[in-house]
Amino acid sequence: ADVNKGEFAHYTIKEIFEQRTSVKAATYQEEHKIKVFCDTIAAAGNIIVTGSGTSYHTSLITSMAGCRALKKRFEPVMASEFKYNMDSIDKDTVVLAISQSGETADVLSATKLARAAGAKILSIVNVSTSSLARAADVSLAINSGPEIGVAATKSFTGQVSLAYSVLDRISGGRIGFDRDAVSDKITKMLAGSAAIERLVNVTMPKVNDIYLLGRSIHFPIALEGALKMKELAYVHAEGIAAGELKHGPLALMDKNAVVFVLNPDDKTYGDTLSSAHEVKTRGAKIIGISNVSNDIYDAMIEIPKMENELLYPLVEVIPLQLFSYYLALRNNVDPDFPRNLAKSVTVK
Ligand code: AGP
Repeated sequence: ADVNKGEFAHYTIKEIFEQRTSVKAATYQEEHKIKVFCDTIAAAGNIIVTGSGTSYHTSLITSMAGCRALKKRFEPVMASEFKYNMDSIDKDTVVLAISQSGETADVLSATKLARAAGAKILSIVNVSTSSLARAADVSLAINSGPEIGVAATKSFTGQVSLAYSVLDRISGGRIGFDRDAVSDKITKMLAGSAAIERLVNVTMPKVNDIYLLGRSIHFPIALEGALKMKELAYVHAEGIAAGELKHGPLALMDKNAVVFVLNPDDKTYGDTLSSAHEVKTRGAKIIGISNVSNDIYDAMIEIPKMENELLYPLVEVIPLQLFSYYLALRNNVDPDFPRNLAKSVTVK
């Protein structure tokens, strides 16, 4: 595999651009393996989805989408919290463990405990020879190629793409994931990278506190965007379920806050727009990520209309990755290797 940076200044930006093709690569699977994988999920009484960091955000998305597509409860559990949440695990349980490296200690220990309690283990990894691939009854690889940047980018969209194609296969296409259409839309988002760079360097005031608001399937993207900003740019950032604002975080909003609002015109639109008004009234600067413009946004990042709202995460995350990358450069931080972090956390 090619691990040169090629025309790019950093691995991180190279890997962000590789999403044009990696979302497609994630969905090419051996027939017999994906069949057993899907049959196992379809037959499960109880499904727990686990992972750490970005892979936990994929677990949240997979759980929401799984619930909607299969009309069956999926429970997301952080791998580091897994051992405290073992009570419902039995032989009818399937644990779906998600990890780029397949070597994350918290995830490996969760699968070990789950297996001892009688559960079947499925995994989604990037490294097909990893410990987690071997620990599972069936493991599927996202085929993203090496991800060198410590911050997960292409592995995230690869995980979501593979999870969606699995759920589509079981549900007869309820999500409507089309790899070519998604790849085209990501390619268009990436073509707007210069505008995001301008947003960071020209439009944005010096920013110390960033908040990201989203409901439903957009909430995990609010968390993922915040994680990227913390890791890559060392900026305080917080993902908030928009409906929770009035339960506390609204107290933080003032003219120094910069708030991303994840607000495509799906069924979350009206409620999230009200949340945007609440923070605007307190003087915060608002960056809208949406397919429809609105005067309330101080700046807007346009995303394409998606056929099914579950598909929005795959395009919404792109400008947030780019924003974090350019903010890292502006803050003179090496985006590829953030301080204090390791690419895979193999100790507990
Ligand atoms: C993501 O940007 C982080 N570097 C980190 O949260 C990562 O997703 C987490 O450590 C899990 O890694 P894994 O996917 O290899 O298990």
